[in-house]
Amino acid sequence: MTDEISLTNPERRMLRAMLASPVDSHTLEQVMEACDWSDQAIAVGAGQGLTDKGLVELTERVRRTIHPGKEGHNAIANGLLEERLWVWISSQDDPTMTKLQAKFQRHEAGPGVGLLKKLGVQLDSGTFVCEDTSSLKSELQARNMFLASLPADEQDLSERLLAHFKGRKELIEVVEHRSRAWSLTDAGKGTSADGLEERKQISEITPELLQSGEWKDAEFRSFDVTLESTTPRTGRSHPMQELIERIRRIFLEMGFSELVDDYVQTAGWNMDALFIPQDHPAREMQDTFYLEDPKSIELDADLIKKWKAIHEDGGETGSRGWSGSFSEEVSKRALLRTHTTVNTIQHLANNPTEPCRVFSVDRVFRKEAIDSTHLPEFHQIEGIIMEPGANLQMLVTTLKTFYAKMGYPEVRVRPAYFPYTEPSLEIEVKWKGKWLELGGAGIFRPEVTEPLGITSPVCAWGMGLERLAMLVLGLDDIRQLYISDLEWLRNQPLI
Ligand code: PHE
Repeated sequence: MTDEISLTNPERRMLRAMLASPVDSHTLEQVMEACDWSDQAIAVGAGQGLTDKGLVELTERVRRTIHPGKEGHNAIANGLLEERLWVWISSQDDPTMTKLQAKFQRHEAGPGVGLLKKLGVQLDSGTFVCEDTSSLKSELQARNMFLASLPADEQDLSERLLAHFKGRKELIEVVEHRSRAWSLTDAGKGTSADGLEERKQISEITPELLQSGEWKDAEFRSFDVTLESTTPRTGRSHPMQELIERIRRIFLEMGFSELVDDYVQTAGWNMDALFIPQDHPAREMQDTFYLEDPKSIELDADLIKKWKAIHEDGGETGSRGWSGSFSEEVSKRALLRTHTTVNTIQHLANNPTEPCRVFSVDRVFRKEAIDSTHLPEFHQIEGIIMEPGANLQMLVTTLKTFYAKMGYPEVRVRPAYFPYTEPSLEIEVKWKGKWLELGGAGIFRPEVTEPLGITSPVCAWGMGLERLAMLVLGLDDIRQLYISDLEWLRNQPLI
């Protein structure tokens, strides 16, 4: 026999109630009433506990009731389709198919005639005839009575008519009711009710219990730590947002300030200021999003003059420029920035002599076809250091420090080319044994800095955020970052 001590109080109460009652099987409602419970969960929990201990057995019963469906309600209100057709046929001197089709809509005439044919109505040279009207009428009556008796228990209904109506669309609906009942097992029957008084059990230690010393004599409720429990779901930031925050923290920690600026810009700042030639392929419509409204944005006339000189023949910088003619209209064209360098260069133009360390993590736009590694909207991690003596070594060390803090200690740089930096380099990070290119960097050329009056060397870089996110989150498809897949989002580690 089971040791009664191991039973919880609700289990004791339920077992006692079942032992005291002469009936074999106890439904949920009966248990709740006999135990004076109003919460189903207590009864179900106690029943589960007693079942686990082999004292009761659970049986589940399924009862089905039949209710009128959408068409059933319609038939109850207006008559069954076959009946409405029959009433019309019997009212006519010469009930022909043609007249019936004129009287009833096609979606009714077709199925209605089909139903009547099964009831013995036939077509004789286009006219409806029926040999045995009395059996037709009695069937119609039986069908009406069936519908009128609803809702009803499935078992109380005629099987034949039930099968008939189940075969018709939306005439009836079947509703399932599941009920549980418990009955005592032999072990349950052998339990003595005397040992089943409810005891004071403690499930939580409170300061009062400790102070009063009551806990010494109390019985402690045992917990089953192996039972499954639900995982609490709390709100959290999107992994991309978390990553941006982490990058911000790292740059702030390294003494940088954050720069936030608009993404509607001029081609002048986005490209001309950076000495990108006006015929550069990246400027084409198929690579850059130009705006309709505003189509162009005014620029300072002096500035345009300087850029024009630099681009055409190098102006006073000693550079030879790109030659060809520079268009002011092209310069004023409005676009969605293609890189965040458009913002750092303007920060420098506004503060040309003040040393600074500035970064941004922001959105850029390029006309890319979407695939597993490209998106038309993405983010860049941009930064500059402007100060007397700023040099390549400083740039490389800063980037290495940043990636080390992100958890990527192996970083290398390779020579590269950008129209606005000299020297220029590419930054690569080692991941799973492979070198991955994450961005570009360099020192701004005199063609960029001189017209803006910038006096000290400027280290600059721009790196892809999504690429880094793919590394951090272990993704092989960039689109995963933006499809709002809740299951995936919930299961991402905190970063
Ligand atoms: N703007 C470059 C890009 O979009 C990156 C870069 C920034 C390169 C600054 C050099 C200096 O890829």
